[in-house]
Parts: sequence; C-alpha cells; structure tokens
Amino acid sequence: MTHSLTKSDFGPGFHFGVSTAAYQIEGAHNLDGKGPSIWDEFVKDPRKIFQRQHANTACDFYHLYAPDTDLLNTLNIQNHRFSISWSRILPSGTGEVNTKGIDFYNRLINHSLEAGIEPWVTLYHWDLPQALQDRGGWTNRDVVQWFCYFVEQCVRHFGDRVKNWIVLNEPMVFTGAGYFLGVHAPGKKGLKNFLAAVHHAALSQAAGGRLIRQLAAGAHIGTTFSCSHIEPYRPVKKDQVAASKADLLLNRLFLEPLLGMGYPVNELKILRRIEHVMKPGDELLLAFDMDFIGIQNYTRELVRHSTFMPFIKAKIIKASQRKVETTQMDWEVYPASVYHLLKKFAAYPNVPPIIVTESGAAFADTVSDKQVDDPKRLAFLQAHMAEVLRAKKEGVDVRGYFVWTLLDNFEWAEGYYPKFGIVHVDHATQERIVKSSGKWYADFLK
Ligand code: NOJ
Repeated sequence: MTHSLTKSDFGPGFHFGVSTAAYQIEGAHNLDGKGPSIWDEFVKDPRKIFQRQHANTACDFYHLYAPDTDLLNTLNIQNHRFSISWSRILPSGTGEVNTKGIDFYNRLINHSLEAGIEPWVTLYHWDLPQALQDRGGWTNRDVVQWFCYFVEQCVRHFGDRVKNWIVLNEPMVFTGAGYFLGVHAPGKKGLKNFLAAVHHAALSQAAGGRLIRQLAAGAHIGTTFSCSHIEPYRPVKKDQVAASKADLLLNRLFLEPLLGMGYPVNELKILRRIEHVMKPGDELLLAFDMDFIGIQNYTRELVRHSTFMPFIKAKIIKASQRKVETTQMDWEVYPASVYHLLKKFAAYPNVPPIIVTESGAAFADTVSDKQVDDPKRLAFLQAHMAEVLRAKKEGVDVRGYFVWTLLDNFEWAEGYYPKFGIVHVDHATQERIVKSSGKWYADFLK
C-alpha cells in the first residue's frame, strides 16, 4: 500500500493529536505536596519493574511542560491528551485539595491554550492515590464516590477552559493487570478482586460522565477502551470458541454496560460472579451516553483453545511464536486491526462517534549525529492512519487520531526500554530530539 496521506483526506474538524499520561512523564513524584500513588508504591517492589526502574523523574514534564508544549506547537500538533494525577491534587485521595497541584495543571492548561493547543484531559490514567488503595482501592465500592469527588475538583478548577474530558483510560487493563494478574499496580490477584474492580470501574466510568455533564454545560465527554482485533489461531471450532471468549473480555466487557446492554454474562459463565458485587439498580447506573468513545489499539491477537487456562480455556499465541513483524512489546504489527475494531465498535446500536485515542509503536532507536531515524515507527503510523481512513470512507463516524506518544517515557512494568515516542528523550540530560516520525507528523499536520 502507498501512503500519500494528506490531512485533508480526513475532512475538516478531524482531531489529530498526541496522548500522554501523568505518571509516565511528569516525575516530581513527591514534590509540592503530591501524595503517593499506587505506582509510586508499586515501583518499590524489586520484582515488578524491568531493571527496578521507576518514574520518580521520568521525563520531568512537571518542570519541562512549557518547552514540551512549545515543541507540540512547533510540530503543528493541536491536540494534547494528558492526564491529571489524582494524588497531586488530592494527596490523600479525598478531602483537602493541594493548591500547588492545582497550580501545575493551571499552568499546563493555560500554556497549552496560549500555544493554540487544545487540552484533552484524562481523569484516570492508572495512578490511584495509595491512601485509597489502603482502603481497598478499586475493589471497594466507595471508590465510585472518591472518584466522583476527584472529578468534581477537576471540573470545578479546570472546566472553564477544558472542554474535552476522558473519564477512564483502559479500564480492562488497569483492572486485569492490576487486580487479576498482579503485574501492574497495585499488584493484586484473583478473580474476586478482579470482578469487584471491574464493576466499580464500570460504575465510575458512567458516574464520572454524568457528573461532568451536570457540572460543565457543553463539555465533550468520552472514555477509552483498550481493544485488539481477535482471530482464532486455527480454523477449528475450539479455537473459534476460545477467540470469542477472549473478544468478550478484551473488547466488550466495559463497552456493553456503558451502552446499556449490561455485562455479557450469558456468554461467559464465570462472569456471572460479578453479580455478587452488584446491587439492585446497578444495571441502569452502568449506562451513560458519552459524546464519544476512545479506542486504543496496538495489535491483533490470535487465540487458541487451551485446557490449562483457568476460567476461559483460551490462550493468546504470542507474536514472537508466529514469525511475524513485531514491536519491542512483542506485539504483531497488524494495521488492519484498527480498521476491524472501528467497524466492530461502530456496529453497536447507539454508539457515539469514535476517536482513536491511542495508536503507536515501540521500536528501538539509535541516535546518531543528534538525529533519530525511525522508519519503522513512521511506517506504522502511516499504515494505521490509512486504515482509519479506510473505515471512515466506509461510513464509520471516526473523528480523531491520537499518536501514543509524544516522548519516550516510562512504559509501566517494562520501564524505559520500549520507545514509543515520536520525540526521543535522553533521561539523564532530559534532552529531546524529534525523530523522523515526529518530523513527518509535523509535516502531515501543516
Ligand atoms: C496504553 C496505555 O494507555 C499507555 O499508558 C501505554 O503506555 C500504552 N498503551 C502502550 O502500552
């Protein structure tokens, strides 16, 4: 396929941008009154993060937000999706507000607007205040109230200037990795923790949306979902069944209750146990009519039947076992995935417009002569944008594309080795170098 894409192919009003997240870039983990988050705690466990890395300083965006925002401007990037660190503005999760934390986000928002950059604020990108985890975190139903209190503070302090709000970032990932597998903060495991966290996150996604709509007239409200196009590994019945179970968990679990369809419990028996944490009337509380939904896609998954996997009897065949092109995450490069997912999500009745709120790839880079040439990342972005356009031309109401991400940053349990940025960062000096992919994006956006 040739990629002579132009911005105008996507039509007027299509939102191009980049996405970032507070814990992955800000650093300043204990400065100016910020309280600890579950990630500040989790990185202290020597077994959890690649080479015992942490994000205490990360990209030092807390201090470098102004030049980094100016850089966005130089790159013609007019939309920046960033997140607010809950424990920076509410050090113990609830109660008193930390004015210095509020000041930071005011400076960031004001500087963005002055530079002509529209802020898209993610309210929860995985950094729950540790004080709330000490009370059970997402497994405690009170988290819905705690979260609403945080949302209210954000809307009251920033809602006069911020129009675009994203309630949750990838609830399936923070509940699955954080409360079932234990590989992300807070490192909890087991079905019971997982199902409780799922239900409270799903209640929070709807409650957060409702609250923003009530407090901020004219707000543009969405939430994001991780998703992967799923195919059976072999064309046999057993693998097809396994693939549809994986699809249910990875792609449908949070979307369907939001759309008012309830959890897909009839298709996966084990899910019925979620009813243990549900109260009468919850089905209604799970629904909210978002103004948009964000999909975040990186790859596809091939799934086979496996008797050894408890609960779902399905297993993902890793890309490295399949001799396909992969990224540093061992994710297959498969651009058509985003096209299939746009079609799939758009096929639900009453689904709002869709925005691709994350798309990107980690490849190892080399710096030579203060230049970073990254043809693989560039090709990845072009191919994915072409697939988004294909879906749009076929009638999918897709309204934006955000690259993950601006800066090489802290990739959670993988630490700093996966390089997702269109801008290279030397974490020792905090020097930034725009990669060729970044230069291409700037040119495309001109
Ligand atoms: C999804 C997450 O939102 C983001 O934090 C992460 O870095 C990227 N995917 C890449 O894994």
